[in-house]
Amino acid sequence: MKQIIVGNWKMHGMTADAAKVAGDIGAAMSEDVSGAQVVVCPPFTQLALIGPKLREHGIALGAQDCHQDPCGAHTGDIAASMLRDLGVEYVILGHSERRRDHNELDEIVREKAVAAAAAGLTPIVCVGENADQRAAGDSQETVGWQIQGSLPQGFTGIVAYEPVWAIGSGTAASQQDIADMTLFIREELVRQFGDAGKTIKILYGGSVNGRNAADILPIANVGGALVGNASLAADTFMPIVRAAV
Ligand code: G3P
Repeated sequence: MKQIIVGNWKMHGMTADAAKVAGDIGAAMSEDVSGAQVVVCPPFTQLALIGPKLREHGIALGAQDCHQDPCGAHTGDIAASMLRDLGVEYVILGHSERRRDHNELDEIVREKAVAAAAAGLTPIVCVGENADQRAAGDSQETVGWQIQGSLPQGFTGIVAYEPVWAIGSGTAASQQDIADMTLFIREELVRQFGDAGKTIKILYGGSVNGRNAADILPIANVGGALVGNASLAADTFMPIVRAAV
């Protein structure tokens, strides 16, 4: 099964820059030989503008959040069906920055995952311990609770393991840490979903770059990467895409 490399642009991307980066990634994709499925998740404001350009090159469009309700009085929010209407195929949910900035609890993330799937989107649900939880030796317990709380029954999306302490730090988790935690996540998924849990893709995210991707992507149970900073330019993103296995 192809690995998935997801670029999360977070709150970056004015119109001129976004169009240029999308064009550069698109052009580089024509020469790509990895066969990875590439997904780019720009801010909402750029989805309609760069979506067609990305799709031309076989790159799927993703969003960074959606609301849990199908429509209604929620000023400033975006429904999953509105994203689908724009050609969006994936949506990142429960990113640690949203859990932190918007107080998103597991229950909300789970409702969003249900809404996303109902609208035909593939949810990418993020889990990961913070530095204090890691220091206390609670990494697996934290991630275990997040998986149980954030994934709805019958979940068929993607799980992204993003240790909060590695995000934006410039230093990814060690290969051993990634191997141990993704194995633990796999076991939790199988415990929760039975055989279906064996095929749910698990991504690693947190300071993935062109130098460490070739060490991270071949790890058993790693089905791809969720990339922040390095996804903001084709010359830093494409080496990760090319390292996909
Ligand atoms: O969702 C991607 C992410 O949080 C990792 O960001 O900048 O460490 O690659 P970064």
